[in-house]
Amino acid sequence: MQKYYIFIGGQKDLSILELQALLKEEIFALSEDILWVETETDMLKLQDRLGGTIKIAKELAVVPFESIEGFLIDYVIEKNPERKKITLGMNIHPEKYMKELFPTYSSLKQNVPFSVRWCQMKKNISSLVTFDQIMSKEVSCEFNIFCFSGVDYILTETISCQSPKSYALRDYEKPARDGKVGMLPPKLAQMLINISDNSPYVWDSFCGTGTLVFEAMLMGKTVLGSDYSVDMVKASLQNISFLRKKFSDVDFKEEDIFFHDVTEKEEIPYNIISEGYLGEALQDMPNYEQLEKTDEELSALYKQAFSHFYASGIKQVTLCVPLYYIEEKNEIMKKTLASIQKSGYNLRDLFGNNEPVIYSRPHQKVFRQICIFDRRDTK
Ligand SMILES: C[S@@+](CC[C@H](N)C(=O)[O-])C[C@H]1O[C@@H](n2cnc3c(N)ncnc32)[C@H](O)[C@@H]1O
Repeated sequence: MQKYYIFIGGQKDLSILELQALLKEEIFALSEDILWVETETDMLKLQDRLGGTIKIAKELAVVPFESIEGFLIDYVIEKNPERKKITLGMNIHPEKYMKELFPTYSSLKQNVPFSVRWCQMKKNISSLVTFDQIMSKEVSCEFNIFCFSGVDYILTETISCQSPKSYALRDYEKPARDGKVGMLPPKLAQMLINISDNSPYVWDSFCGTGTLVFEAMLMGKTVLGSDYSVDMVKASLQNISFLRKKFSDVDFKEEDIFFHDVTEKEEIPYNIISEGYLGEALQDMPNYEQLEKTDEELSALYKQAFSHFYASGIKQVTLCVPLYYIEEKNEIMKKTLASIQKSGYNLRDLFGNNEPVIYSRPHQKVFRQICIFDRRDTK
């Protein structure tokens, strides 16, 4: 089994949940941002579908300080039998060990029998753009050195990272965008799909501009998207047509995106994975009055929608329910959650601690509570 180190981004809970859903083995934390796992799963293959994992490194060795330099020099020489120019990178965690490792970094450049084209030392997770530059070179290598025990040094080599170019294309470079409906970041769409039970059939019944639909297609799912706004159906179609030209292996039929109001019946038994509807867009930071209003509106909408979902035999619904942050406290949509649960679905306790799992970004007015609703009679 290979030991891997996984660098996670800002959405820690969700990043851990998606890894737990996709890997059989137990996952441990090395630090707040770095997890490790020993697994037979090919982590390189998994990288592109992980919304919360910034990069993945494999363990090379665990050595005392005095062996680091020799090990890395031998490793780089063995990696480059043709003695071509090599591109190197090096990251140190935690930052306080940087000074101590600087001579190793310099020596590495000087003590290999070929030229080092470019080398950068970073105190923390290297920027993905930098890493992309390293990996795009013919012979390249990025080391990550960890010393959290204060004794041994864990030497690792990066094997993969998220592609900034690919996410940019799937996010703000797609043609149909609508700030008012608030588009889902593709990374969150991936995490929602990953934490849901691994069904090959997915329906986004509030598809908006089609972000989640496209991410599910990229994962090879059979996917449907619908919305009650004709403009949104058009936007989804436009975005998916654009994106599939860039990602050629995506299977798509126009009739899979259609007009539908969730308060009306529809016989589709696919599991729903959706950002859902978050209520009216807010101009200002929310207050208790708005919370009540949104909770009323969503409770009425979801009561009807979930009774149809239940009648169609849908087993699971993964949804973002808005969560307001008022007076430094998280306020959940109590009525909405209660009315969904009255319709035959249980809210899954994702971390087993009765705490909501929250997706939030700085300066956001409305946070999202990440919810999985499991049909009661299938448990
Ligand atoms: C937050 S947006 C979804 C945005 C989408 N995830 C994206 O990435 O573009 C919510 C969507 O729900 C749709 N919607 C609201 N009420 C609906 C209903 N009753 N039936 C179907 N769609 C509805 C809206 O038109 C809107 O596109």
